Amino acid sequence: MLSADFHESAKMTLKTLGPFPLESAAEVAAYILNNGLPHIVAFSGDLGAGKTTLVRELMSMMGATGEVNSPTFGIINEYRTGDNRKVCHTDWYRIKDAAELMDTGIQEYLDDPDCLILIEWPEVGQSLLTGEEVLFVEIEHAGEQRIYHLNLRH
Ligand SMILES: Nc1ncnc2c1ncn2[C@@H]1O[C@H](COP(=O)(O)OP(=O)(O)OP(=O)(O)O)[C@@H](O)[C@H]1O
Ligand SMILES: [Mg+2]
Repeated sequence: MLSADFHESAKMTLKTLGPFPLESAAEVAAYILNNGLPHIVAFSGDLGAGKTTLVRELMSMMGATGEVNSPTFGIINEYRTGDNRKVCHTDWYRIKDAAELMDTGIQEYLDDPDCLILIEWPEVGQSLLTGEEVLFVEIEHAGEQRIYHLNLRH
């Protein structure tokens, strides 16, 4: 779960979806897309919660071609949507601190408002995300199913 700091700022809208089985990840992706994507979407949850699965569904619905893999080792994966929007998919699980995060080149993507940024394990980058509009998606295990908590920070 996210640390309290992430939830400090006012103006959060909250929606909880689920519990859902795996096939409903597409349903959650559709809900997110239909409600408008901000520049940054941050996915939290335990190992294997379904963060990459949801990113894969989002990319599929946005018409991205090619495989969506976990960027745990590559740190940043770049995709293009069907209408040629740039997408940056990154995973900060192995990043130790903000300095190491800067070395990945993420700032270039954060500075590009046309680029959609999808972050797994965003906690280490709190300082970078302060002041940005971010949709936080927290995925909670419920047995074999998942519950999705959506928080938009304006
Ligand atoms: N809604 C769901 N219900 C049940 N199983 C799911 C759901 N979403 C994903 N899974 C399953 O959970 C497993 C892990 O999914 P995934 O790789 O997306 O997790 P992750 O959160 O990205 O993990 P990591 O922390 O390692 O990056 C997969 O086997 C996937 O099929
Ligand atoms: Mg993953």
